[in-house]
Amino acid sequence: MAFDKSVYELAENEIKSRRFSAENRVRFRTEEVERKIPEIAEINRQLAHTSVELSKLILQKTGNFRESFDKIKDQNIQGQEMIAKLLIKGGYPEDYLAPVYTCPVCCDKGYYDGHRCSCFDKLLNRFAVEKLNAEANMPNCDFGHFSLSYYQGKTDSNGTDCYQKMSENLDYCKGYAEKFSRNSPSLFLLGKTGVGKTHISLSIAKEVTEHGFTAAYGSILNYLRIIEKEHFGRAEDSSADTMQVLINTDLLILDDLGSEFQTGFYESALYNIINSRINLGLPTIISSNLSVPELQKRYNDRVISRIFGVYTMLMFVGEDVRQIKRLRGEI
Ligand SMILES: Nc1ncnc2c1ncn2[C@@H]1O[C@H](COP(=O)(O)OP(=O)(O)O)[C@@H](O)[C@H]1O
Ligand SMILES: [Mg+2]
Ligand SMILES: [Zn+2]
Repeated sequence: MAFDKSVYELAENEIKSRRFSAENRVRFRTEEVERKIPEIAEINRQLAHTSVELSKLILQKTGNFRESFDKIKDQNIQGQEMIAKLLIKGGYPEDYLAPVYTCPVCCDKGYYDGHRCSCFDKLLNRFAVEKLNAEANMPNCDFGHFSLSYYQGKTDSNGTDCYQKMSENLDYCKGYAEKFSRNSPSLFLLGKTGVGKTHISLSIAKEVTEHGFTAAYGSILNYLRIIEKEHFGRAEDSSADTMQVLINTDLLILDDLGSEFQTGFYESALYNIINSRINLGLPTIISSNLSVPELQKRYNDRVISRIFGVYTMLMFVGEDVRQIKRLRGEI
């Protein structure tokens, strides 16, 4: 999967800084321990000497290579064992000087066994998602800023008590964010403009991200435009593959289904994203201002039946919160 250059750079820098801090920690600890336990300093000096010997040996490849190599190796093991004993005697844990890498598989090198390590792939995905998210900026969209007061005393056209319904939705979404995993269900948030669908979706994205997952959030319109540009080779960085980033992120939020233009390319790109994520068992949250009959009229049956068959529906009700805020003089 391809990523753009800036994403690779960010991931490489992160890996480097992880390795640097793991190695730095060892350096600090070594200095500390050598000051307190001079015998360890002496053993380390000898070990440094043997490693120089070893390099010479490898370069020269003399006749008794094997024998000398084994001797140096034994000296090394003995030295390490002595250090471990001295550490314990000095009140330190035996592994006090061992490097602690974020990824023990590749020791924070990013590559393992000639392949890109999965920790590197994860970082690439995370930075690609962050880059996409930077375009969808909505401040204060978190659970703490979501108030049920805007739904109080209101009843929708079906006679539903808006406060009651939205309080259930809020509880459900808070629980969803708290317990989120890559196996969480997909959600379909339906309701009129301004009733809080985007606000709640971003609140979930925020909390899920705080738990260490990658959550891509953006309007369908925007995502499809980016994908279209990349597909037809008009993107600034032609190596980026936003479609794949959206398919693989832990959580994908597709905001405002129905706001995009109706073209064959958009519809098939959308179907591909939704369908691929269902096949991978990954959760997606879609929101729309359209009603169910409007959605059925607008979209090909294969898209809509896929969504209705798999997603959990949440009906959002109430009046346009922006207007209420304006009337209350809050904005
Ligand atoms: N329950 C709420 N509490 C506080 N602000 C809200 C609430 N619902 C919506 N808003 C705010 O009102 C505006 C419109 O809400 P939004 O979530 O974009 O609606 P929708 O996506 O349903 O059209 C946003 O600025 C949002 O932050
Ligand atoms: Mg919205
Ligand atoms: Zn790794």
